[in-house]
Amino acid sequence: MTTATRKTTRFMLLADPQLGIAAFLLRKHAGRTTPSHHGEMVAPAGSQENGWPYEEERLSRVIEVANELKPDFIVVLGDMVMHWDDALQIASVKEAARRLSPAIPLHWVPGNHDVGVDFFSATDESLAAYRASFGPDRYAFTAGPCRFVAFNSALFDRPDSARHEYEAQLEWLEQELARPLPEGVHHTVVFAHHPPFLRDIGEEYGVYNLPQPQRRLLVDLLTRNGVEYYFAGHTHANVLTRHEALRVTATSAIGVSRSGHASGYRLVEADSQSISHSFHPLH
Ligand SMILES: [Fe+2]
Repeated sequence: MTTATRKTTRFMLLADPQLGIAAFLLRKHAGRTTPSHHGEMVAPAGSQENGWPYEEERLSRVIEVANELKPDFIVVLGDMVMHWDDALQIASVKEAARRLSPAIPLHWVPGNHDVGVDFFSATDESLAAYRASFGPDRYAFTAGPCRFVAFNSALFDRPDSARHEYEAQLEWLEQELARPLPEGVHHTVVFAHHPPFLRDIGEEYGVYNLPQPQRRLLVDLLTRNGVEYYFAGHTHANVLTRHEALRVTATSAIGVSRSGHASGYRLVEADSQSISHSFHPLH
């Protein structure tokens, strides 16, 4: 049975493998108890100031899990690396990904660390580099009963650093979401790195959500077009919230999660009636 005619789909979400974050945290926080903008994230025991053995091992293990679970596809919800321009970090992520069974498609979604020259702001140069390494930063596909739309949320966070890219993506999203669902497709699901909000749409802007007014504009666009689920990463902790019919779920990091929060992956299953998901800690 081909994907197009199947009535169900089962896929796996990974967020923030972020190769290089442990060394960064170790250097940044050494001897201090006041964390930076990363909140309560601390370098795991055994981290080294050079290299990323911890993150690489976590990524390798979850790829082994995926090869056993055989999902229909995997989405990596951004922050593949700590530094957008570190060729060794990018090469390590792609090397780990090559150990995934070729029968399991892998979809990359850009995170702020993958495209942000200052950890936040995408530029023409960083976007070109991202696309050369990981492919398009926005795309759509269908699987089973779902239409999936992935986009670059860093452009919603800092539109002014690449205003023409922000506008082009917005136009593309409007057109993509307005297209009628094909026969047999019942749900629209989006993938992006930043959740638009963490508790409610009116909350203040911070490191882990999107600023007003882009948040309102995006959520209005999604709800108007019947999007049911928004799967994100970025928070390095699990977050489940909603606005009207739009459910927003951020998945904890596969690499370094925030203190007190499990690290792991999410499995999602969809049939013509509903979508369900569950988080699985990776020990
Ligand atoms: Fe991250």
